[in-house]
Amino acid sequence: MAAASEKERVLVVDDAPDTLELIQRNLAAAGYQVFTATGAAEAIRLLEDIPIDLVITDLKMPQVSGLDLARHVRENLKDTEVMMITGYPTIQGAVTAVKLGVQDYITKPFTDEELLSAVQRILQVLKARRNAQNGSEQPLTLAGFIGESRAMRDVFQEIRKAAAAPATVLIGGESGTGKELAARAIHYASPRAAAPFVPINCGSIPENLLESELFGHVKGAFTGATESRAGFFQTADGGTIFLDEISDTSLAMQAKLLRVLENGEIYMVGSARPRTVDVRVVAATNKDLRALVKNKVFREDLFFRLNVITITMPPLRERENDVLLLVAHFAKKFAAELGRPIPRFADGALRVLAGYHWPGNVRELENVVQRVVVMTEGDLIDVPDLPSAMRFSAARDAHWDRKLSEVEAEHIRSVLSAVGNNKTRAAEILGIDRKTLREKLKAYGTDAD
Ligand SMILES: Nc1ncnc2c1ncn2[C@@H]1O[C@H](COP(=O)(O)OP(=O)(O)OP(=O)(O)O)[C@@H](O)[C@H]1O
Ligand SMILES: [Mg+2]
Repeated sequence: MAAASEKERVLVVDDAPDTLELIQRNLAAAGYQVFTATGAAEAIRLLEDIPIDLVITDLKMPQVSGLDLARHVRENLKDTEVMMITGYPTIQGAVTAVKLGVQDYITKPFTDEELLSAVQRILQVLKARRNAQNGSEQPLTLAGFIGESRAMRDVFQEIRKAAAAPATVLIGGESGTGKELAARAIHYASPRAAAPFVPINCGSIPENLLESELFGHVKGAFTGATESRAGFFQTADGGTIFLDEISDTSLAMQAKLLRVLENGEIYMVGSARPRTVDVRVVAATNKDLRALVKNKVFREDLFFRLNVITITMPPLRERENDVLLLVAHFAKKFAAELGRPIPRFADGALRVLAGYHWPGNVRELENVVQRVVVMTEGDLIDVPDLPSAMRFSAARDAHWDRKLSEVEAEHIRSVLSAVGNNKTRAAEILGIDRKTLREKLKAYGTDAD
């Protein structure tokens, strides 16, 4: 865990802002990386994104109590400890807390020393347990990211490496493969985790507004600019900006982005004075940027600037057993949202799900599972409960509606990935020579080097 920074991460949850600030200040001064939340719901959202070592929570909070938060942590996060702060020490409360796996609790009022020694104690136990469990072995998954396939394990590895480096990252992959999730994972596993992650969809903001949205504007810059306003780059200072659909920007905007990447300078609209920002850029696209460069609609220099670290999200159909892991994950999630028991899937339904081509990838799978969980009355989901387009996908499995070149390209790619991209091995298996393989890869727009 915490590959990029050695600091231990503590999340403090309390509905009283004063207490929250006090604890945050003390722990930060003692060298911990501290996150805060004013309620359990906010805490749970944070825990989905950030690997946290210790949660310190108030027992009594409106809506969801500290005990419920502790239960959530115990059931969902094996590698996170919980410490409770309570104003009412009762035997009953203590027993319940300990049963829920709360490591320790302190009672109000407490001194700074009491707080720090409790935190140190818990984290020592946690460290000892981690060492005993898996020595130096890395965990296979990242927070909130489901996947045990070879392809996804490689992606997790790349995300960890990218998180530790300061460079710009370009994330590619089909629609719905988890590009935004990957960008978030990079941010939250990086030393910038405590600063903002600011996602922007470049395609959804009209061209004439994009510049002032990104860089801000000064008073009087244009009609209606009655006040100076900061842009997303200033908001993201110290953190990460996620430029989604980067290919949807105009050539003029691309030139401005290049300047930020080259020297960290932005110009607010209407100002001639450069301002410096410290922002890591992660960009994503589901287009082939190289092809766009060739067609002169994407600047080559910007492409090379963005392309320092590239992560390609594999399509879901190339992730082996992950489909069924994801089905189970989303079934649990949506059943919980509806307050229903987790449904079971009949073998036939699982076969259909596993064999489907998933053109919309994880997003499509998430929608399908949500729909069947909502629509199915009983707790068993069978083939007739699945969307009709999927039930009749047996024909698709036979691939009779696909071009020969598509099938060939896919086969070549899967052989390549099976041999770790070793072109010589792949050519041998495919029964062609390396030159033919290279030509085919070029023709299919796959990297040939
Ligand atoms: N491996 C995964 N485990 C769990 N959830 C996932 C995974 N991959 C994607 N998701 C979920 O699937 C949905 C789509 O993911 P995301 O928005 O990151 O994809 P995308 O590649 O950015 O898609 P698009 O190209 O359409 O913008 C999100 O709800 C995300 O949380
Ligand atoms: Mg996206």
